[in-house]
Amino acid sequence: MKKALITGIAGQDGSYLTEYLLSMGYEVHGVVRRHSVSENQNSRLHKIQDGKNNVFTHYGDLLDYPSLVRIISEIKPDEIYNLGAMSHVRVSFDMPSFTIQTNALGVLNMLEVYRTICPQAKFYQASSSEMFGNSVDEDGIQRLTTPMNPVSPYGCSKVMGYNLVRHYRHAYKLHACNGILFNHESPRRGSNFVTNKVVKGAVSIKKGLQDKLELGNMDSFRDWGHSKDYVRAMHMILNHNVADEFIVATGETHSVRDLCETVFSKLDMNYTDYIVQNPKFMRPQELKYLKGDPSKAVNILGWKPEYTFSSMIDEMIERWEREL
Ligand code: NAP
Ligand code: GDD
Repeated sequence: MKKALITGIAGQDGSYLTEYLLSMGYEVHGVVRRHSVSENQNSRLHKIQDGKNNVFTHYGDLLDYPSLVRIISEIKPDEIYNLGAMSHVRVSFDMPSFTIQTNALGVLNMLEVYRTICPQAKFYQASSSEMFGNSVDEDGIQRLTTPMNPVSPYGCSKVMGYNLVRHYRHAYKLHACNGILFNHESPRRGSNFVTNKVVKGAVSIKKGLQDKLELGNMDSFRDWGHSKDYVRAMHMILNHNVADEFIVATGETHSVRDLCETVFSKLDMNYTDYIVQNPKFMRPQELKYLKGDPSKAVNILGWKPEYTFSSMIDEMIERWEREL
């Protein structure tokens, strides 16, 4: 039975990746941080039951080197997925130091423990399209050759993590790879990211629970896919015979305005009647446009998304209709 270790197991992707790896017969271990409300630690993992069904969580933190040494020495994983991060771009402007420590030095900590304790393992790093910043090729697409010009502390931290992974691969001959994933969403997405915020807000308005929805910039474009499709890609990237970089994206882009139009019209409402802009949700610098080229992942790994933008939104609407 293969053993996988996931940092960020309690996050959106960590929870779906756990379910996917369990379905492939893995024993799955995850790093969780201590929360004062203990239910929050495993809130996305409640279906799986920690300590049963081959899932085990361990207290640790990317910034706590001794905890990483302890966990990796005990488990000796075959596969390591480093998904733990301060993943909110807007918040990274408020907490730049914590963001850089977790997302850049945290990667360094993981790579050092991996190199010294279990260098035979395979390592996946959760890299991001935010690394491109406002670089776009002339045809309006970001690809592996597009220069990286990050426009947020989060983007800067991810570029460092990305480069460290490449450096460790070459210097120490490790099977360490990067997935450059474009935005991906799901019913489990944090509700302070724009997709889930809009869906939750629209369903609340429909049910008479709120009157307005406050947003920031509505003119940026994102290439939005589904987390379930993207965790399958992570596993494929890590298990490819050569450690490498891959972009995972849909190749389709929508503005935040399109997103609002789609969500509200699925609920028979006109978004212009309900949305107000609040400068609080604007960023000091904005990444304006993302549209990725996933052809390498499609052609070499055989990866193909199952969800469309519309079916993903339907699933998110269903979640809030059930819950609210
Ligand atoms: P998420 O839901 O925010 O999950 C991030 C996880 O990291 C959380 O479980 C969090 O723990 C954990 N974490 C934060 N700081 C940590 C630390 N210092 N030590 C250990 N764990 C820590 O994010 P996600 O959407 O699943 O994304 C997973 C990864 O992919 C992240 O690295 C993100 O930056 C990257 N990524 C995401 C996207 C996307 O669109 N979703 C796109 C590209 C790349 P708590 O639950 O305790 O806060
Ligand atoms: N969060 C949020 N809240 N975003 C808003 C709002 C709002 O009220 N109003 C407008 N937006 C705009 C943002 O300015 C941005 O242009 C877009 O919606 C998407 O914002 P987020 O959903 O917060 O995602 P992100 O693109 O900044 O970052 C996500 O994708 C990255 C990959 O490109 C995160 O998941 C990152 O972790 C990930 O790396």
